[in-house]
Amino acid sequence: MPENILICTAWPYANGSIHLGHIAGCYLPADIFARYHRLKGNNVLMVSGSDSHGTPVTITAEAKGITPEEVADSYQKEFLDDWGNLGISYDLFTSTRTKNHTKVVQDIFVNLYEKDLIYKDIMSQAFCNTHNQFLADRYVEGTCPLCKYDQARGDQCDSCGNTLDPKDLINIRCNRHKDCADSPIFKDTEHFFLKLSEFENDLLKWVKSNPDWKPNVKNFTTGFLENGLIDRAITRDINWGIPIPVEGYEDKRIYVWFEAVIGYLSASIEWSSNTNKWEDFWKSESKSFYFMGKDNIPFHTVIWPAILLGYGGLKLPYDVPANEYVNMESKKISTSRNWVVNLKDYLKRYDPDPLRFALTSIMPETSDSNFSWEEYLRANNDELVATFGNLVHRVLSMTNRYFDGVVQAPNRKSDNDIKLIKNASNTLKNVGDELSKCKFRRGLSLAMALAKDTNKYLDDHEPWKKFKVNPSDAGATLYYCLNVINCLKIIMNPYIPFTTEKLNIMLAIEKSIDQCGWNWDSEEIIPGHKISEASPLFLKLDDSIVEEELARLNIQ
Ligand code: MF3
Ligand code: ZN
Repeated sequence: MPENILICTAWPYANGSIHLGHIAGCYLPADIFARYHRLKGNNVLMVSGSDSHGTPVTITAEAKGITPEEVADSYQKEFLDDWGNLGISYDLFTSTRTKNHTKVVQDIFVNLYEKDLIYKDIMSQAFCNTHNQFLADRYVEGTCPLCKYDQARGDQCDSCGNTLDPKDLINIRCNRHKDCADSPIFKDTEHFFLKLSEFENDLLKWVKSNPDWKPNVKNFTTGFLENGLIDRAITRDINWGIPIPVEGYEDKRIYVWFEAVIGYLSASIEWSSNTNKWEDFWKSESKSFYFMGKDNIPFHTVIWPAILLGYGGLKLPYDVPANEYVNMESKKISTSRNWVVNLKDYLKRYDPDPLRFALTSIMPETSDSNFSWEEYLRANNDELVATFGNLVHRVLSMTNRYFDGVVQAPNRKSDNDIKLIKNASNTLKNVGDELSKCKFRRGLSLAMALAKDTNKYLDDHEPWKKFKVNPSDAGATLYYCLNVINCLKIIMNPYIPFTTEKLNIMLAIEKSIDQCGWNWDSEEIIPGHKISEASPLFLKLDDSIVEEELARLNIQ
């Protein structure tokens, strides 16, 4: 029975480019996972979109002297190009600016409001006299009351990860503009609150009932809930965002985090285009996986589940395999200081698969990790070119050279041959197990171990020598290698989809990789089958790219 698998990735703010840290932490693991489940024959729905509202977008618009709509549109376009070029295979990548999203958000708002899970109250909010404006939580700064980090934002402390209320900040400052030295005052304003306190116990029970969550996600969430949940304002004094569906609040908007998480549901509904297909992933037997960086954890393990519990009848997240951070050349990525590599810039100069490969091997699954150009070069040249690419190139070119591309019938089945076949089928199974547990690094290293073992097998059997004295022995070696390469094609497909498609064509297999599925018939490439011309799968990169790329960092 195919499973229903919903794959959600955090919605990128439509005010800045996607960089390699985002890819390694969020979009790439989600895509590998989606590709694996599609090959397994499961029903996959992978959704996300641009997070287009809130102050991040308006501030960028102000700075550029254009409208928020223009900012959001241009990043939506950039993101879609990014996904296409890197092979991030969303079923739908939409935005929070659709009519559908507004409708779904407002329906949920009204539903919770009618149940008293959303209520009105007066709150006092930071107000900057210099700007004559209420300040969004993230535009006040101060010392975190919990860990004493002195640059905590009003919504969250980046040092300890806790969500904050601006009022908790010690030594509060306006951070709205760089030149503003004002200490904000607090002024009364009426807002709508989400009754989070109501859900504390149910959420705690739910989190504890999920044994397979990563320890960091589970511990963080449990600690968060055990500290006690307080009700939170979910509207703001701004005019860019989704209108409040209650009369008399025309000059306020729904808070961006409250509506963005609802995007997972509204995108699923949009994808269904007037059918009930989305219900397979939200109401029926199904599993949902939410990919993101660690700063997004509480919104997905507390706020979003609370909204879902309040609304009722919809499935809560099954797993939240959040990742840690990636550093760039051993320093924290910083877009403002240009210590960053944006995806679109990478893709102007290099191919997508080497990046997918290099980033998977440093995926920050359990701790922060580091991207360096030197390691990227090594991964490309030593592993992709010298191990995987070389294996494929040697086997395909010898088959072409010695046998005119025609696969030979094996005249032997030795212990070594049997061992190789067993190794391949075990690897297919084991990589599948790792992928289903979101252990992408481990899966990749098992796959590469098979490529290495197959190179070793080839070296041991020396078909280039045997061909002269015993051509059918050389033919048998190539036969077994070709079939194992046919297995590696499947195993590596979620990781390096562009290259494995190319390999499928070189092997002259009629079925697409999708049609093959996560299966391997060890005799699929039969004697008499003719393969195509071989061309190198990967480009060897020159050492000089390391210096070149280092020079690009930090220069604006
Ligand atoms: N835009 C947010 C960020 O970049 C993530 C939003 S995730 C969502 O941190 F679920 F709320 F959409
Ligand atoms: Zn100010």
